Amino acid sequence: MRCHMGLARLLPRPAVRPASVAAPAETQVIVLANQKGGVAKTTTTLNLGVAFAEQGFKVLLIDLDPQGNLTMSQGLNPDAIERSMFDVLVHRMAIEQVIESREVDIAVSSIDLAGADMALSSQIGRERALEKALAPIRGRYDYILVDTPPSLGLLTINAFVAATGVVVPVQTEYLSLRGLVQLENTLAMVRENLNPRVEIIGIVPTMFDKRQTHSREADEILRESFGDLVYNTRIRKTVRFAEAPVKGQSVLAYDSTGEAAQMYRDLAKEVLNGEKSRQHA
Ligand SMILES: Nc1ncnc2c1ncn2[C@@H]1O[C@H](COP(=O)(O)OP(=O)(O)O)[C@@H](O)[C@H]1O
Ligand SMILES: [Mg+2]
Repeated sequence: MRCHMGLARLLPRPAVRPASVAAPAETQVIVLANQKGGVAKTTTTLNLGVAFAEQGFKVLLIDLDPQGNLTMSQGLNPDAIERSMFDVLVHRMAIEQVIESREVDIAVSSIDLAGADMALSSQIGRERALEKALAPIRGRYDYILVDTPPSLGLLTINAFVAATGVVVPVQTEYLSLRGLVQLENTLAMVRENLNPRVEIIGIVPTMFDKRQTHSREADEILRESFGDLVYNTRIRKTVRFAEAPVKGQSVLAYDSTGEAAQMYRDLAKEVLNGEKSRQHA
């Protein structure tokens, strides 16, 4: 298996943009959010972003979680980072200064971001710090994906204000419909006061295990409750998702031809199609 994974790197990558998929007319800022921890927000941010890049799109990932898991998952050490999204949000430093080039571009986080909520709370325009930071660079990217912490605090609100859409990963093991209602309530407040167009564009069932009755039931309940909003692609449970970040890689780089990589390519197609139908609506 090791040998196979080494070889996978040498295989040709499907890295050209098919003519049928055009760049979005306007930069899409997709926020991955769910106030529950451990539902695959970070995993989805990275792998969806890399899947978009494989299609030829320009992608920026933003790590808004003080835990810095997204930053780590591209082989960067949050403890050794001098400038992070904290400086961008709180001190209005240019975001270019915290963007690193890895598989895709990534604006990094470090633990000091844990103080951002408090530092921002007394500032005028505290909910618009991310939106402001993105304005000068927005046009350089087709897709900007924002990973958020497991809370609906000021960092996540900043993400919602900058967003063109929200994608919600939901673990099919410990399904929390109440959590989703709370998330939707927060989005309704943001729509009313700060960003009229922000909405959930899709729900991704994650850690799906078809052998487990409760996982299948959770998936069914999700589809009964949210209908078309739930993507057809289920992200199944596999150890690849735990292995890849340790190597500082997405699953698309770590095991390019494996089924874990393919699941995120499938999801990327669905997200892209959703965008298309919206633009034509
Ligand atoms: N489909 C999956 N199958 C198995 N493990 C997964 C899957 N997706 C994510 N994981 C693992 O679950 C843990 C939580 O995922 P993560 O993306 O960090 O969630 P969150 O950002 O919502 O807290 C991580 O250790 C990750 O590697
Ligand atoms: Mg995370």
